[in-house]
Amino acid sequence: MQGKAGISAFERLYGERMWTYASKQPELNGIFNNAVAGGARSVVRALIDGYGDVFQGLTSLVDIGGGIGTTLQSIAKAFPHINCTVLDLPHVVETAPSCPEVEFVAGDMFSFIPKADVVGNYTN
Ligand SMILES: C[S@@+](CC[C@H](N)C(=O)[O-])C[C@H]1O[C@@H](n2cnc3c(N)ncnc32)[C@H](O)[C@@H]1O
Repeated sequence: MQGKAGISAFERLYGERMWTYASKQPELNGIFNNAVAGGARSVVRALIDGYGDVFQGLTSLVDIGGGIGTTLQSIAKAFPHINCTVLDLPHVVETAPSCPEVEFVAGDMFSFIPKADVVGNYTN
C-alpha cells in the first residue's frame, strides 16, 4: 500500500522497501514467508475444489511473487499436466521447500518474467 508521496508506510519508516529489508533479516524473512504461505493454504484448496475448471486446457502457469510456492505446489499436484513456475526474489526462493512439481526461478519481476499461458501476480 502506498501513500500520497508514492512510498509505503514501511519504506517511510525504515528507509527501504520491505522486500529489501527482509532480504537482510533471515528470521523476519522466514516469518513473513510462512505467514503468507498460511494465507495461501487457506484459500488454494477452495480455489482448486470450486474453480478447478479454469485450469483445464492450461499447459503452463507462473506465479509472480509466488513466495515459497505454497499455492503452486497445491495446483501442480492437483493438475499435473500444468508446468508450474514460481518467480520470487532470491532470498525467498532460497528458503522454499523442495518440490519436484514446481520450478523456482530467483529474480526480479521488473527485470524478467518467465513465459507461460497464464501469469499470476499477488505482490504489494
Ligand atoms: C504477499 S507475498 C505473496 C505470497 C505468495 N503469493 C503465496 O501465495 O504464498 C508477495 C511476494 O512478492 C515477492 N516480491 C516482491 N517484490 C518482488 C519482485 N520485484 N520480484 C519478484 N518477487 C517479488 C515477495 O518476496 C513476496 O514473496
